[in-house]
Amino acid sequence: MLLDLSKWYRTLAPRTTVLVSTIDKKGNSNAAPFSFVMPVSTNPPVIAMAMVSTRHTLANIRETGDFVVNIPGEKILAQLWACGKPLPKGVSEIKESGLTEERAKKVSSPRIKEAIAWYECKLRAELEGGDHLIILGDIVLAESDEQKDEKPLLHIGGADFCLPGKNLKTE
Ligand SMILES: Cc1cc2nc3c(=O)[nH]c(=O)nc-3n(C[C@H](O)[C@H](O)[C@H](O)COP(=O)(O)O)c2cc1C
Repeated sequence: MLLDLSKWYRTLAPRTTVLVSTIDKKGNSNAAPFSFVMPVSTNPPVIAMAMVSTRHTLANIRETGDFVVNIPGEKILAQLWACGKPLPKGVSEIKESGLTEERAKKVSSPRIKEAIAWYECKLRAELEGGDHLIILGDIVLAESDEQKDEKPLLHIGGADFCLPGKNLKTE
């Protein structure tokens, strides 16, 4: 069966889903979900995300040069979904969705407290990637909360998500 080329990525699913938190120069925080995400280097540790050029997240990353990749667990699906709704620039999706922001350890962008892991990142490069821009981030600090017994959310497409299921061993 031939696939509709405009929706090809829907078969590359489920995808890791993250909430990226940022701050602008005036101190307004922001958060948005992204699922076009991948690790690209282990040493140095580098992460890549693809973003449409109009995202406030991108504007803030350009302003401050940093961002936090928050890994959302299953308990914050509703809040993650709320963070995906467009709000005027300067209005914080973190506060509007009922999530809690806290100071990051090595970057100016805030972390989202309810996440289960955090990657604090500094902007490494921006690359052209078709209708998305590829943002490369150097991970300067990575931390997880072992106390939170939650599975990470995966994005299937649109409003559909799932959780990691059965573990399969090869050796
Ligand atoms: C689960 C999910 C995944 C998303 N993934 C992406 C993505 O990878 N790249 C992108 O540009 N937008 C993505 N979006 C859309 C943005 O999150 C959405 O447009 C958001 O309002 C952008 O917020 P901002 O303008 O504050 O950055 C996704 C939305 C959802 C709900």
